[in-house]
Amino acid sequence: MKQCFIIAGANGEIGRGFVEKILPKHTVIAISKQHASQIHHPNLISVVVDLTKPEEVEKAFSGFDPTQYDQITFIHSIGIDKFENKQFPKIEPLETIDPVVYASNVNTYKYLARFLIKKIEAARKIKLVTLKFVMIGSIADKYGLLVMTSFTESKNIIRSSIRDAIATRSWISGLIINISSTITTSAMKVRPYADTTYWLTPKDIVDGSLLRVLSNEVGYQEIDLFKHDPMFHETFYTDDQIVFDRWKKYVHGAR
Ligand SMILES: NC(=O)c1ccc[n+]([C@@H]2O[C@H](COP(=O)([O-])OP(=O)(O)OC[C@H]3O[C@@H](n4cnc5c(N)ncnc54)[C@H](OP(=O)(O)O)[C@@H]3O)[C@@H](O)[C@H]2O)c1
Repeated sequence: MKQCFIIAGANGEIGRGFVEKILPKHTVIAISKQHASQIHHPNLISVVVDLTKPEEVEKAFSGFDPTQYDQITFIHSIGIDKFENKQFPKIEPLETIDPVVYASNVNTYKYLARFLIKKIEAARKIKLVTLKFVMIGSIADKYGLLVMTSFTESKNIIRSSIRDAIATRSWISGLIINISSTITTSAMKVRPYADTTYWLTPKDIVDGSLLRVLSNEVGYQEIDLFKHDPMFHETFYTDDQIVFDRWKKYVHGAR
């Protein structure tokens, strides 16, 4: 089966991990926003594009020919987080998803996903190419944490969008990789004082999900990746006060 992997966020630590593992055997289109991928390999095509701009996406992929492949996998590995509801226990109602979080988490997925569905739908008149979406969410999304509402809402928009695409087109499949906190530059920027003892590394994410990412399983699946913390208790996610105190400490330090 000839596969092509389109990896958005290819310069991020997790995205780059996928690029390196997948490259030796498959074509990889590595997408970044500012700098072309520093990895050089005959299977790598580097694309620099701002995925929040639909017209740029169309232009960057205008020459893409899906009929060269049997399966195309879009790995979406972009998305920022923000500490919200800082006035807890007073709960700030979420009237709209934070626009910066929305642009980073949803728009970077949406325009390319739409483009690929249309392009592959047309290509299927010539060859029965399939499309797979892979998105990286958080294990915490299941609990709807007050401190990261915009992040969870935006990831849920992508979950719904993938499920809807699968429901209407049997040739689309989806994999959501839910991860616990992971040591990446973006996460450490938001939570600089975090205790990272039981955080995952980007390598853990890639190693823990690669077989599922490479597979041609059909339908919609979610998998959870986390490191076992011996002190873990469900209240880690379910008790608002505990969640808030931990985040405050991770964001501002112990004060
Ligand atoms: N770390 C965690 O604890 C954690 C937890 C749960 C989920 N996740 C998810 O894991 C994934 C990967 O996280 P990460 O920290 O490695 O990624 P990231 O830092 O958010 O982004 C990685 C890359 O995305 C590119 N990018 C950003 N905006 C773009 C745009 N508009 N158009 C094109 N490219 C753009 C940037 O490329 P340039 O360098 O070229 O600007 C950046 O290097 C994300 O989906 C995140 O939500 C992470």
